[in-house]
Amino acid sequence: MNFNLSEEQEMIRQAAKDFAQTELLQGVIERDRDQKFPAEQVKKMAELGFLGMMVDPKYGGAGLDAVSYALALEEIAKIDASAAVIMSVNNSLVCAGIEKYASEEQKMKYLVPLANGQVLGAFALSEPEAGSDATSQKTTAEDKGDYYLLNGIKNWITNGGTAQYYVVMAQTHPEKKHKGINAFIVDRNWEGFEIGPKEDKLGIRGSDTHSLIFNNVKVPKENRIGEDGFGFNFAMAVLNGGRIGIASQALGIAAGAYELALNYAKTRKAFGTEIINHQAIAFKLADMHVNIAAARMLVWKAAAEKDEGKDISESGAMAKLYASQVAMETTVEAVQIHGGYGYVKEYHVERMMRDAKITQIYEGTSEIQKIVISRAIAKK
Ligand code: CAA
Repeated sequence: MNFNLSEEQEMIRQAAKDFAQTELLQGVIERDRDQKFPAEQVKKMAELGFLGMMVDPKYGGAGLDAVSYALALEEIAKIDASAAVIMSVNNSLVCAGIEKYASEEQKMKYLVPLANGQVLGAFALSEPEAGSDATSQKTTAEDKGDYYLLNGIKNWITNGGTAQYYVVMAQTHPEKKHKGINAFIVDRNWEGFEIGPKEDKLGIRGSDTHSLIFNNVKVPKENRIGEDGFGFNFAMAVLNGGRIGIASQALGIAAGAYELALNYAKTRKAFGTEIINHQAIAFKLADMHVNIAAARMLVWKAAAEKDEGKDISESGAMAKLYASQVAMETTVEAVQIHGGYGYVKEYHVERMMRDAKITQIYEGTSEIQKIVISRAIAKK
């Protein structure tokens, strides 16, 4: 067992850290306040190869491993969790799924611009009445011969307003239940595709979340991913990898809040000494430190298993479940350590606390992760 990162992995981590400090930190409070999408910063992420990190260079990606990806996401999420989710969705839910399961023609046409960051992608599974219960897809893709007719509504779609290409799951054969679902690559410019209003969210307010409305959108047959009826299994496989991205995001939020709380505790004085000298504060920091280290081990393990080509359904769910719980607990305590300062925007931790909550909800709630984990252990 080797816990040392390679020289290349350390370099990626440092590059992401530098990028976050120089490009993301400035304006992060205002972007959160104004719900402003970090368009300029996303362009720079593309230049650095952060939008297609694990994609083979022949399809426009950086050809890196999942551990490097997790390291970069953690550093970015430490400063700006919104930028992290934009990056995570494009890499894990869009590029990874297309690279693994799409045809060569689809990869040349769609993966190349998505991986090199020329355009962004979105993953459209959730619906107004199908969030956790993802098999209950109401969006339909009626087979019309050489095209499918797409109708329905998708909800809470990250990159919903800024993506060019959308991976959309829809039901083609309702009688076959989840085995009748298909996945399609859909272009935002197609007739009948409408982007709904932007959601006004508690956290990750710099990322743009929208509903999508499909009204008789003609999707060419060649835009279906995989065999007829493969869509649900496709979505589940993609989400297994996506959970490593969200676990890394959660880890970054926790680590970022911890660093701020530690620095604050070392400089803020109360009752005649720096507050880190008060056991009430020191013990909170010790707990945060241990929990973050444990979450990081779970994230790295899942990422390393992905690189080894192992089944990551269990390890990805474990990493996501635990890291998101640590993100929530750590950010709450970081606010507490900051006292009154923690409750105002200037000190960042209140934003981090709001950002942390979504990591327990999207790409499967904590309860969904427990379903995945408990089913895996029941099989052993
Ligand atoms: N990995 C691979 N395959 C899986 C799987 C997993 N983790 N979980 C289920 N499957 C497969 C099963 O093997 C089964 O396949 P077969 O029929 O071929 O045997 C099929 O999926 C159906 O599985 P179940 O019968 O277990 O279905 P279920 O309804 O009981 O439960 C579930 C499935 C795990 C609860 C699933 O619905 C789920 O993961 N729900 C959460 C959905 C989710 O994460 N949504 C997030 C939206 S994306 C998002 O948030 C992105 C963003 O914007 C940031």
